[in-house]
Amino acid sequence: MKPLSRSVTGIDRSPIRFILDRAAAYPGAIHLEIGQPDFAVPAHVMEAVVNVTRHEYTGYTANAGMLALREAIVVKLARENDMRVTPENIIVTVGAMHAVYATMMTLLNPGDEILLPDPGYGNFNMAARLCQATPVFYPTVAERSFEPDLDVLETLVTERTKVLFINSPSNPTGAVFSRAMMRACLDFCRRHDLYLVSDETYDRLIYEGEHVSPAQWDDEGRVVTILTTSKTYAMTGWRVGYAVASKPIISAMTKIQEPMVSCVNTVAQHGAIAALLGPQDCVEAMRAEYRRRRDIAVELALENELSVSYPHGAFYMLVDISAQPKDSVAFCCDLLDAENVAAAPGLAFGERCDRYVRVSLCAKEEAIREGLPRLARYLQRAAEGQTVTETLSAQAAS
Ligand SMILES: Cc1ncc(COP(=O)(O)O)c(C=O)c1O
Repeated sequence: MKPLSRSVTGIDRSPIRFILDRAAAYPGAIHLEIGQPDFAVPAHVMEAVVNVTRHEYTGYTANAGMLALREAIVVKLARENDMRVTPENIIVTVGAMHAVYATMMTLLNPGDEILLPDPGYGNFNMAARLCQATPVFYPTVAERSFEPDLDVLETLVTERTKVLFINSPSNPTGAVFSRAMMRACLDFCRRHDLYLVSDETYDRLIYEGEHVSPAQWDDEGRVVTILTTSKTYAMTGWRVGYAVASKPIISAMTKIQEPMVSCVNTVAQHGAIAALLGPQDCVEAMRAEYRRRRDIAVELALENELSVSYPHGAFYMLVDISAQPKDSVAFCCDLLDAENVAAAPGLAFGERCDRYVRVSLCAKEEAIREGLPRLARYLQRAAEGQTVTETLSAQAAS
């Protein structure tokens, strides 16, 4: 048989999915590895959808999504993101992830360079490589609150660079870029004639600071903003996200929507309208609860002498594992064996993140309270050079 496509065989599977699958064989494992909200979908969204399935047409919609949904998104963007747009500036996508991929497909030719954050969500890298673009990673380090260093970015630009990709609030660092940083990123793109793609998946999950959408200052059609209902409304499985950009970009994305997915699931689009236009107190309630869990996690980290990132947004915390010698994937496998705790290997977010593991703060409070001290205990033992077997026997003896 002839080999499969090189774009597909050339990329590795996400290490998070690897740990998730592995953890399925560990009964009673504590799951701190995935970003899956544990809240129910808001009741008014469920009700709206039940009504729709009884009374409304649920066939294909326009490729760009239902007009009523795009109008609801216009309202949301004016209300929360200081963005004034029309429905022609919006395409509804299968979650933010599809918006990321379709944006890259639309902007990038094979061999073009895209500046991606490191640490950053691993799917950005995978999507860029599927488009045969070249990811060039810009570091964001704890010492600079995980914001980009513009001087370093300057050194990475070549004549092939086409896109600066940013993600605030960030998965996995929890960084929330300041207004000044957002402006600086846009100015940088203007100076070098780059597109600015801004993944704002966690725009409503901010604990300190403010969320700033750089598209509010864009008068040239340089910015593509990516948003989703997934995390804000605990609607991850509904798969409704969207991209906001200039009319030419949206019209190109709408054209390629047809061979990719035709349109987003119609019932889920109705649910998204209810989520965006309905009462928003559920969003505040979830945000307050994530913030409470963030505080618990940071306090537990201090008590257990873990060195961690302090997330100002999103719902992840990085734990530094550099006190021990293993890479993050080996560490996470052994952590499962020794302590029955699943965490996400930092490697999933880039090579520079291999000294960290990521824990998810949308896990239940009990899981955080039980899981973090176990992680700390295993880290201590691994730092002392104990094998998993020695750790298990030590636990059996205690
Ligand atoms: C930064 C970031 N972008 C995009 C996504 C994908 O979101 P969606 O579920 O809406 O596709 C995620 C999901 O974890 C994410 O963390």
